[in-house]
Amino acid sequence: MSVKLSKESIQKTAKDLPIPQVHFFEEIDSTNEYALKLAGEQAEEFTLVIAERQTAGRGRQGRRWVTTPGTSLAFTLILKPGEPEVDHLGLFSLLGGLAVCQTIHKFCAVDAQVKWPNDVLLENKKTAGILAEACWQGERLAGVVLGIGINLMPGSVPPPDALLFPATCVQAHCSRDVNRLDFLIAVLGEVIHLRRTILENAFLEEYTRHLAFIGEQVRLSGRSSESVSGVLSGVDGNGQLLLQMETGEQESFPIGDLHLRSGEDNKITD
Ligand code: BTN
Repeated sequence: MSVKLSKESIQKTAKDLPIPQVHFFEEIDSTNEYALKLAGEQAEEFTLVIAERQTAGRGRQGRRWVTTPGTSLAFTLILKPGEPEVDHLGLFSLLGGLAVCQTIHKFCAVDAQVKWPNDVLLENKKTAGILAEACWQGERLAGVVLGIGINLMPGSVPPPDALLFPATCVQAHCSRDVNRLDFLIAVLGEVIHLRRTILENAFLEEYTRHLAFIGEQVRLSGRSSESVSGVLSGVDGNGQLLLQMETGEQESFPIGDLHLRSGEDNKITD
């Protein structure tokens, strides 16, 4: 269902959530860019930046992210990792994907999967992308911004020739009408809930339960480095991907400039 979003409607519907401020834009360059500025100015945890349209929405690995007004969601939450969490920043990148999976399950009773680190897939097609970025002020971490882009309605799915990866939208997998405002508030609630559990085993267990290609042969490739192959066995306490190598050793790979592909090379591309 295409519902008009506004600062007032979001604030009213999210009144039970600890969101200190809502910055709503009909159009902005990138909600992540704006949130990074706010994080550098001491914005509080769970400050929300949301826009109907982004003129320079960004995705992982320098790619663009297109947001179609009225049919998708594009927003960023500011998070403020505490002392023990700073050594586990990789986990913040996983948070958004898991929150979207859980919201889809609540709304549509279907199991979405996360393609590590945080693309959300429905039947192997991408329905949401997450970009977590840290705001450093010298040695000090001022915050992490968690940007979430979700294709909700059919109009939000870009044409196939504009895609590197097959895409879908939540509504295509849901027998009930998906209301944008309700879906937004539910994702925000999930992020806020999960954020509190980020260092607990239960967080990683739940993430792993949604992890795509577990037990399958996958290939990781970086822009500059050679690719590595192994059987995907999970993620570690820093959010790094664990692969069982041919040697029998388990190795971990950091979130970074990596592409994950399933064994069938062209089934999944990043
Ligand atoms: C990806 O799949 O490559 C990540 C896409 C992340 C898109 C979201 S939309 C809201 C936030 N603002 C941005 O500029 N990017 C993120």
